[in-house]
Amino acid sequence: MRPLTIIRRSLVTLLIVATAALSPGCDSVDAPPDDLTLRDLAERNNLQIGTAVEASEVADRTYADLIRTEFNSLTAGNAMKFGPLRPTINTFDWTNADAIVDFAESHRMEVRGHTLLWHSQNPSWLINQPWSRAQMIEMMRQHITTVVGRYRGRVSAWDVVNEAFNEDGTLRSTIWLTRIGPEYIEMAFDFANQADPDARLFINEYSAEGRGPKSDAVFNLVSDLRQRGVPVHGVGMQMHVSTSWAPPAADVAWNMNRLRELGVEVHITEMDVRMPLPVTDAKLQQQAQIYREMLDVCLEALNCTSFTIWGFTDLHSWIPDHFPGQGAALIFDEALNPKPAYDALRRALE
Ligand code: XIL
Repeated sequence: MRPLTIIRRSLVTLLIVATAALSPGCDSVDAPPDDLTLRDLAERNNLQIGTAVEASEVADRTYADLIRTEFNSLTAGNAMKFGPLRPTINTFDWTNADAIVDFAESHRMEVRGHTLLWHSQNPSWLINQPWSRAQMIEMMRQHITTVVGRYRGRVSAWDVVNEAFNEDGTLRSTIWLTRIGPEYIEMAFDFANQADPDARLFINEYSAEGRGPKSDAVFNLVSDLRQRGVPVHGVGMQMHVSTSWAPPAADVAWNMNRLRELGVEVHITEMDVRMPLPVTDAKLQQQAQIYREMLDVCLEALNCTSFTIWGFTDLHSWIPDHFPGQGAALIFDEALNPKPAYDALRRALE
């Protein structure tokens, strides 16, 4: 733990003890347990609290200590995507994915597998060849069977299909849709289920957390798949939001509830709250509030079982590269000090 954190926590503990001593009849058992990490508190709530990581981070002591103490679930930020895993048609490269799964296992953490099929980060050998429909299906089958099979019993949930929809709720024109047809989705779930019948299988999406055509499209697809016996068990809500916009908490609660009625689980899979730079105290407070609201919604929903943040330190975040002028989206700052958002998550869990 960082010295600053230790000092901060010790001061708060001192304050709590002093207050308790000064107020006769005040039971110190009620005092907030300030030495508990997010992981400790999440485990009391039966919640998985996760972060996305790179293999280089779990190999680095500075980050690894924080990751294992604060989180009980890991997602590979890139290492399990099609391109990084299968750079050429004849080679799988398991180095980074294995390192993340091994780290998780040795620290009793869950692993969310991310992601089997996506429109992005696919290898050029897959995109650029004019594969026939039958060949594409075979490539998909091989990929899913090999990857899910390798981590059978070790990855508890898979994002089987990622970002399948356009904003208007129509299916996104990916290599999978255009070369196989809309049935690629149910095929993927069937292949994954055959490779690991115990893994929980998710469809993962962004900007579909609250109300709107995309959220309806996810709901309708899951409803249809389940009616037809396709093994889909959950919906991943990415939750990449910003201090300027986040879905109303009530809408997210409403959406989680209608998914519960379908009998499916919900995971918050990639939360971050970006802000226009520079950082100000007001923006940090606003950010903390949004993190807290979404965790509160998840804790209140009976079917929301996992809350993952897309990284943990502002030093390593995808936001500055993908949203120019924005950043500071995570719960630890660039020096690994906890931000107001970290404290807000702790308070929600307490
Ligand atoms: C991002 C990674 O964090 C970046 O390092 C990479 O350059 C691009 O992809 N939605 C997803 C994630 O499902 O896989 C994306 O991850 C972020 C958006």
